[in-house]
Amino acid sequence: MTHQIKDLADYKKTYEHSIKNPEAFWESEAESFTWMKKWDKVLEWNFDEPKIEWFKGAKLNITVNCLDRHIKDRGDQTALLWEANDPSEPSKHISYSELLGKVCQCANALKELGIGKGDRVVFYMPMVPELAIGVLACARIGAIHSVVFAGFSAQALADRVDDAQAKMIICSDYNNRGAKHIAVKDVVDEAMDKSCNSVEHVLVQKNGNNEVNWSDDTDVWWHEIVDKQSKECEPEEMDAEDMLFILYTSGSTGKPKGVVHTCGGYMVYTCSSFRNVFQYKDGDVYWCTADIGWITGHSYIVYGPLLAGATSLMFEGVPTYPDAGRFWHICEKHKVNQFYTAPTAIRALMACGNNWPDNYDLSSLKLLGSVGEPINEEAWHWYDEHIGKKNSPIIDTWWQTETGGIMITPLPGITDAKPTFASYPLPGIQPILLDSDGNILEGNNVEGLLCVNFPWPSILRTTYGDHARCKLTYFSAFPGYYFTGDGARRDEDGRIRVIGRVDDVLNVSGHRMGTAEVENAINEHENVIESAVVGYPHDIKGQGIYAYVIINGVPSDDIINEIRAVVTREIGPIAKPDKIQVVPGLPKTRSGKIMRRILRKIASNELSNMGDVSTLLNPEVVDEVIAGRL
Ligand code: WT7
Repeated sequence: MTHQIKDLADYKKTYEHSIKNPEAFWESEAESFTWMKKWDKVLEWNFDEPKIEWFKGAKLNITVNCLDRHIKDRGDQTALLWEANDPSEPSKHISYSELLGKVCQCANALKELGIGKGDRVVFYMPMVPELAIGVLACARIGAIHSVVFAGFSAQALADRVDDAQAKMIICSDYNNRGAKHIAVKDVVDEAMDKSCNSVEHVLVQKNGNNEVNWSDDTDVWWHEIVDKQSKECEPEEMDAEDMLFILYTSGSTGKPKGVVHTCGGYMVYTCSSFRNVFQYKDGDVYWCTADIGWITGHSYIVYGPLLAGATSLMFEGVPTYPDAGRFWHICEKHKVNQFYTAPTAIRALMACGNNWPDNYDLSSLKLLGSVGEPINEEAWHWYDEHIGKKNSPIIDTWWQTETGGIMITPLPGITDAKPTFASYPLPGIQPILLDSDGNILEGNNVEGLLCVNFPWPSILRTTYGDHARCKLTYFSAFPGYYFTGDGARRDEDGRIRVIGRVDDVLNVSGHRMGTAEVENAINEHENVIESAVVGYPHDIKGQGIYAYVIINGVPSDDIINEIRAVVTREIGPIAKPDKIQVVPGLPKTRSGKIMRRILRKIASNELSNMGDVSTLLNPEVVDEVIAGRL
């Protein structure tokens, strides 16, 4: 297994070594995995093209490391512990041996349906065990998975399927979320009607009892083809730099881009970070509440925990069903030791009152994790007092889809935890702060743009089908550095606090959303002439979506509702604007660029300090926009 940091001195020593001798450090971290062939070279890289290769020449299969190599010592241990949406439904305990068998069966079914190495498979599923099984089955045969969060619309799904040129979609018939029973297969059918011409088969996992539409040409039931397969399937030999998966995420411009992660480096980094950050010990029950549709679920429900031989809890439902005590009920029921969730969930549950957590025995908890957005001080303290009983360190983990794994975080019981600070980099991570001219800000008590100046094994390799976009987005703003898009502060003791995005990306309930993407959706409405979207502080969501729209015709509630419906249709309900203000014009520079800075201030009600507006093309609209603010 990878090294597990045990105390502060060990952290300091390990970190030092990892920075001075990155190749030696990562080579020793990689040593314990099962490789079909070891690497010829640990690292080759440049951030200009960019081209980054870890464990060059090595051959492996990540599922051998997630599953087969654990069978001898922990074959009967629960790998996945599944908790259904409906609390009266029994939990499922899937052991490492059982999981290996199920993954192989699914892998054999995929092969029978014509899927092979390098083919793309899109998932559109709720949090059922088959999602984890399917993802691993792809990895077993070298197919590239791309999981699309099942809350996205048919259009958003179709866009991703088309971009990836996926050969198959794997979905469920129904999705049980709280009291809702959502027909997800219908969404896939709609996407298939729109486009998705590359798709040959839709593999459907049965999750409900109602009828669904069926197309004999494409549709195949999971239980009819998977269950009859052999429980053995030879793992495909993959190059360390072969693609493992594509995960779409929003940027400041254009359509979502497919972030690409590769087999070897992602494996080493997710295992190593999981073991260090969560201080997982044999026998612990670890629970990450994320959805596998996001990177958090990929790295810290599926791959990291399984690589480390952990018991990973997977929950189908929502925090407030059947009531706001559900998370705490699950912690008590399964004696959860490590609990990892998002600030938006903490704030939502905090608003439900202290009785909910107080009613359950949470004494099994050893650490509390947070991820997805800056955690505000109030939520941090509530989490600490009411969930951790001041007895469980809080780890505020900063990372991104593109980083593949956790980058900056306190280590529980090892480094100190200061509210709202992600604190210190993990071994191998070299964060730096730059000013807007690209100068490195040395020393403490500084604030700037967060960049990283050396590769780590799970850094993204490209954006699928468009390498130029990868270079432009992450490696061009400050040549020679990876630019995160975040602003950060380093305090007097060297701890890092990530403040938030400095680009046109919003973070709504921990979900990343491009303002341009939401604007493009709004502009699909026939009465909309132009729109501008900004974020504003929101008590529960962290950021809410504020849209300014110029429309032709008479403004009405109907039009506003229709605009919301268009966004739901184009992207999904998570992108629906909280506020839509009809405006006569948008403040623009003389070159015609929308002045978002001004719109952000108005949306946030910060009217005292608007700055100089006299150089605008149309300074008169500012007062009109202010007068009509919501
Ligand atoms: C963006 C990445 C990586 C898991 C989930 C989100 C923000 C994430 C923190 C944190 C402050 C955070 C950043 C980052 N973010 N974690 N602990 N403190 N900000 O992944 O969708 O790729 O979003 O989320 O702004 O750039 P993502």
